[in-house]
Amino acid sequence: MNTDSIAVIGSGSIGTGWAIVFASAGRMVRLHDIAAAHLEEAKRVVAGRLDELAGFGLLNEPPAVIAGRVSFTTDLATAVVGTAHVQECIPENRDAKLEVLATLARLASDDCVIASSSSFIPMSQIAAILPGRERCLVIHPGNPPFLLRIAEICPAPFTDPAVIDKSEALMRSCGLSPIMLRIEKDGFIFNRLQGALLREAYALIAEGATNAADIDRLVRDGLGFRWSVVGPFESIDLNTRGGIAAHAQRMLPAYIRMGAERGEHQSWTEETIDAVVADRRAALPLEDWDKRVGWRDRELMALLAYRRQRS
Ligand SMILES: NC(=O)c1ccc[n+]([C@@H]2O[C@H](COP(=O)([O-])OP(=O)(O)OC[C@H]3O[C@@H](n4cnc5c(N)ncnc54)[C@H](O)[C@@H]3O)[C@@H](O)[C@H]2O)c1
Repeated sequence: MNTDSIAVIGSGSIGTGWAIVFASAGRMVRLHDIAAAHLEEAKRVVAGRLDELAGFGLLNEPPAVIAGRVSFTTDLATAVVGTAHVQECIPENRDAKLEVLATLARLASDDCVIASSSSFIPMSQIAAILPGRERCLVIHPGNPPFLLRIAEICPAPFTDPAVIDKSEALMRSCGLSPIMLRIEKDGFIFNRLQGALLREAYALIAEGATNAADIDRLVRDGLGFRWSVVGPFESIDLNTRGGIAAHAQRMLPAYIRMGAERGEHQSWTEETIDAVVADRRAALPLEDWDKRVGWRDRELMALLAYRRQRS
């Protein structure tokens, strides 16, 4: 097990979440914040969440052992010295992040990876002018990071490929499934997808078609319930005999009409559909389609039974 220390900068919801992820994977964690009161609260949150995770059987070690790996400091140099990885988690402000990253680049050893948890701002908008920028990239977690077991890894064009590899290996060693971005996009993938759904939801409310409570219910018990087993592409692939190509053929005109209503004209091109169809057929040959539909249904049955038992 790799026991190199990790520094986490900023002890809000994401900083405490990362501390739990890293410490649960056996890493010594130094959690830093400029506000001593926030660190006191973070201490309580980390211990409390670890106890709850243990209650659900989600930890491999006693919670006190894991909590014992996390130390707390208001001194940035103490947090960073000798660490292999720094995870910045301060508020989403480009200038503040640049200032912290500039200090980190001076304090951290040359082979230390400097990652930002930024939700929307790509690294080339933060660190383009920084000496040491090749060590910097974005690792964007879900919230809370210890429950949504994915992390988006988004390098800038100037990020050293070795830094990307190390970051991917770190996420895997912590039990997180890395999503590797091929180009930088504002909001990465997670928040762009979330944003697309929210844009339409707000538009439907503005038009008087529905309200927030009904949209939450529809996503929680409908779309999102299914998405917790299969993603949006696999959903439509399994919804139509003949798979996603048949879905596109039958439904495309309706989706194009709905997009045009919102001023969106680009994404459903034949070329893009072909690429998605190719990905899906590589993942699931059509001869296995019935078997997979049966599997999806049983997974949803298990989830439904679990929800009934919890309610
Ligand atoms: N909240 C989410 O759902 C979520 C999800 C993924 C990523 N993120 C991103 O993670 C980052 C942190 O978000 P959060 O929700 O934890 O914020 P937060 O406001 O809960 O916590 C930020 C913490 O950083 C501390 N801080 C501020 N300036 C600092 C500095 N210069 N040095 C050290 N500590 C400093 C604050 O005292 C505070 O405790 C943001 O970039 C955010 O966009 C948030």
